[in-house]
Amino acid sequence: MLDTSKLRPSRHTGEVFTGFPREYYLSAEWFAREMELIFSRQWLYAGHESEIRHTGDFMTREVGDESILVTRDGDKIHALFNVCRHRGARVCLQSNGNARHLVCPYHRWTYDLNGQLIAAPAMPDTFEPPRYPLFRAHVGSWNGMVFINLSKGTPEPLDQMLESAKAAFAPLDVAGCRVAHAITYSVAANWKLVLDNFMECYHCPGVHPEFCRTFDLKRNPGGVLNTSHPLVDFGEFMLKRGAKSSTMTGEPVCRRLMGSLTEADLPAAVGLTFRPTSSGLFFGDYGIVHDFQPVSPTETRVRCQWLVAGEAEQGRDYDVESVIELWDITNRQDWVLCEINQKGIRSRRFVPGPNNLEQEPAVEVFRSSYLAMMGESCL
Ligand code: FES
Ligand SMILES: [Fe+2]
Repeated sequence: MLDTSKLRPSRHTGEVFTGFPREYYLSAEWFAREMELIFSRQWLYAGHESEIRHTGDFMTREVGDESILVTRDGDKIHALFNVCRHRGARVCLQSNGNARHLVCPYHRWTYDLNGQLIAAPAMPDTFEPPRYPLFRAHVGSWNGMVFINLSKGTPEPLDQMLESAKAAFAPLDVAGCRVAHAITYSVAANWKLVLDNFMECYHCPGVHPEFCRTFDLKRNPGGVLNTSHPLVDFGEFMLKRGAKSSTMTGEPVCRRLMGSLTEADLPAAVGLTFRPTSSGLFFGDYGIVHDFQPVSPTETRVRCQWLVAGEAEQGRDYDVESVIELWDITNRQDWVLCEINQKGIRSRRFVPGPNNLEQEPAVEVFRSSYLAMMGESCL
């Protein structure tokens, strides 16, 4: 049994703050607690609406041991626990696709896109299928970004949480975008280390020469944006003078721009962090969504999607290699850092060191919100 009294996180002392004790990054028991207190309660990115544009389109999203099916049924989107109501088998084994019905492979109980059980072969006449729908998760869509929430109670409405970010994103028409490319990375590090890394650019000058060609570290050393809600940050993504986008050259990589933007509007870079684990960076010519998914105490799956305007055509307006190049390079550089961070923390001599409030303020914001989400476990 984990002794939580020894796990108190360190707090501020003047200009520095510290990280968490090593158990936070290693303990299976602590990880299970995070899955319960954070990942079963908060909004998590599931995908972009363009992935489920037509009736019958579906995508699955793994959340720890859970699998959630997100389906399109006319103008409705449903989120359903991917667990058959007969003997509990996974109903859908594909990560995405199109189907008229969802048929459990085991005994062929069949559900509609809304999760209602519509056929159960050879069950007695007294059997009442309507009593056995797939369990529902909460689902919401913001600017075309689909989020799910596994909480048993009613979560805070998505629109309400993200309301203040709406105007900043309006010119980009993120809802009108589509996924041009996606990569899922596997990182051998605790999800909080991956988020810590993503939240600061203290490491950027030495590690990300390509990224630093266009990112203006001087204007925004810490990466803190407008905090409009304890779980939401948004605001301008600072590019250097002359750079039009976050690309290898600073030039846009997609000719058809997002929304109603013209080239004269560039740079038009906006970032959104939606805690615990979603980030969207939109540059006007393309955008990238990061979704950090804890797999185990020492493994994180990072799903990245590169978005372009819905009307943009590959070959004519962009080529995928150019769209993904900078952030794919930058991501891979970061995963190396996260993995050496995890390795170092395994040492029994590890103690959380002083973090720099000026250079790493968004890390502090992330850790504070983490503590708030974990609630009394951390007191
Ligand atoms: S477990 Fe799904 S039909 Fe039996
Ligand atoms: Fe980085």
